[in-house]
Amino acid sequence: MSSLFNIKGKVIAVTGATGALAGGTAKYLLSEGATVIFLSRNLEKVNATVESARTISEQAYGYACDVLDEARIREVKDDIIAQFGRIDALVNGAGGNMPGATISPDKTVFDLAISDYDSVMDLNLKGTLLPSLVFGEEMVKQKAGSIVNFSSMSSEQVITRVLGYSNAKAAVDNLTRWMATDFAQKFGDKIRVNAVAPGFFIGDQNRKLLTNEDGSYTERGQQVISNTPMGRFGEANEIYGAIHYLLCEASRFVTGTTLNVDGGFSVYSGV
Ligand SMILES: NC(=O)c1ccc[n+]([C@@H]2O[C@H](COP(=O)([O-])OP(=O)(O)OC[C@H]3O[C@@H](n4cnc5c(N)ncnc54)[C@H](O)[C@@H]3O)[C@@H](O)[C@H]2O)c1
Repeated sequence: MSSLFNIKGKVIAVTGATGALAGGTAKYLLSEGATVIFLSRNLEKVNATVESARTISEQAYGYACDVLDEARIREVKDDIIAQFGRIDALVNGAGGNMPGATISPDKTVFDLAISDYDSVMDLNLKGTLLPSLVFGEEMVKQKAGSIVNFSSMSSEQVITRVLGYSNAKAAVDNLTRWMATDFAQKFGDKIRVNAVAPGFFIGDQNRKLLTNEDGSYTERGQQVISNTPMGRFGEANEIYGAIHYLLCEASRFVTGTTLNVDGGFSVYSGV
């Protein structure tokens, strides 16, 4: 493999690593020779995921770590540094939506449950910021590191219903650009912050919204497909290459960008 894309031996932490896209990414990075630290809220799920990941490589490690618990993130970071001596990259995969922060067709924006809205903002925005600060501090000491955040199609275009999630992911885009600029100006050109914006991938969070029991598309699923030039949903493994690129030397002059992986959804007007 070209050294530009070589991630062998890199120590990479992935939050939300028991999830569909983030967990798949963590296993992919492992298969490319990285040492991968699986972080997620639930210890049993983390242990089960790491156990299955070890069939790919022995270099899989896991910790229960809530991305909103700064003290726990610091504890985990200290342990990783004690064990491996450094942290080369962080993938901020923890994120998602919450029903109360969503406006269903029979409701209006005035029905928004503010406490759920706060939770969604916290998980997606603060849950990206806090690990970036804790692990970023180490990257500053090392004078090198790469952070990859997860944005969404809803951060730039209005996607009906998902108000809280859209607001939070728009803020993640802004955070990506802000931290990228600040890190490069203050700590040098080897600490980078970027994001991927997945288009529509079927996962547990949105399966019922997009597909029927028999596998056919719901009305909303069909709307998405009609607005996706490639005419299909993404497969989880189609996000891995974009993240790999943003983590490795091949992208060493790339920072502050959000890379769309969406079958063309974001560029199509629908006409
Ligand atoms: N799946 C998609 O189509 C899609 C599209 C656009 C963006 N995204 C974003 O991509 C990222 C990864 O998505 P995914 O499909 O892997 O999601 P997922 O729902 O499958 O997994 C999210 C993971 O985050 C964990 N998590 C939730 N709260 C946490 C917390 N407080 N601390 C630590 N872990 C926590 C969950 O346990 C779960 O394992 C998310 O930010 C999501 O919003 C997904």
